[in-house]
Amino acid sequence: MLETLVDQYRWAAAITPPEVPSRSAVLIAGMGGSGISGDVAAAVASDTPVFVHKGYRLPRWAARLRPLVIGVSYSGNTEETRSVVDDALEAGLDVAVVAGGGRLGALAVERDLPNIPVPTGLQPRAAFGYLSGAVLRLLEAAGYVAETGLDEAATVVSTLLGTAMDGPAVALADDLAGALRGRIVVVLAGQGVPAVAAYRWKTQINENAKASAFHSVLPEADHNEIVGWSTWGSATRNWVGVVALRDRHEPDHLAARFDPTLEQLAQGASVAGEVWAQGSSPLAHLASLAVVGDLVSLALARDAGVDPVPVEAIETLKQRLTEQP
Ligand code: PA5
Repeated sequence: MLETLVDQYRWAAAITPPEVPSRSAVLIAGMGGSGISGDVAAAVASDTPVFVHKGYRLPRWAARLRPLVIGVSYSGNTEETRSVVDDALEAGLDVAVVAGGGRLGALAVERDLPNIPVPTGLQPRAAFGYLSGAVLRLLEAAGYVAETGLDEAATVVSTLLGTAMDGPAVALADDLAGALRGRIVVVLAGQGVPAVAAYRWKTQINENAKASAFHSVLPEADHNEIVGWSTWGSATRNWVGVVALRDRHEPDHLAARFDPTLEQLAQGASVAGEVWAQGSSPLAHLASLAVVGDLVSLALARDAGVDPVPVEAIETLKQRLTEQP
């Protein structure tokens, strides 16, 4: 599932994006493995008001703020995303599309919308580099981002994976998976770029390892979640494993929270370890943390004897919803 990741970042760095108008804000609509590209863009383009919308219909504020709307769907058929794009066109907003085809891809061609078609044939979550890269290139084309960091992300991830999947991230992920096996995983990270990586860990463990996982963001978790860890210690200590994602660019006030928070968490959970971001650009940081989570999720799948690729629960639910009258 990670074989093409480095090439995906390189592909995104090399494409020529379409012309995209610049507006006072950006709204990125997408779900699941596609929607996370909006989280990536929002964290990387932190000078721009980027709103990520994971749900139905255009939010009401958009009629007043008139953002650039980017619809992202790997299949091109996700109903929530399509409803936002339909509403945005109806409201006369500027719309751009990132899709692997489907109805959204067809609509983009039909309406001559700025459009980056991404290579198909993967699970949406395995197209992370294509989708995130394409969205970032649209933001760059609109003048929101001066440097996407895609080339650096490719280099950093390539080094971490190694030429024959023998790089440092693989050994680290194996160690972490060993400590997390059989546990519900909680991924703790600071706000901003690491928080997006933590969310990617959670979703990759959900979908690849078919296991429960949660993510927790500092400083907010220090204002509620830590209280819950004090009560069930005798039960959760055996069942919950915590990983912390760290970033040397964390501001001091955030960095200062990790040790005391992890000490308190350790009363109710087993702390498996920390993973540190690599590289210098925000995207390289995010990609370097995320790829370790991808590897951990695959190692957990392997150890549990489950096939990481199919996501029957999602397919079954989508099918049931299409059959509803
Ligand atoms: O991982 C998955 O398969 C899902 O999270 C999908 O990405 C999600 O259902 C949305 O579909 P799409 O990415 O095709 O818009």
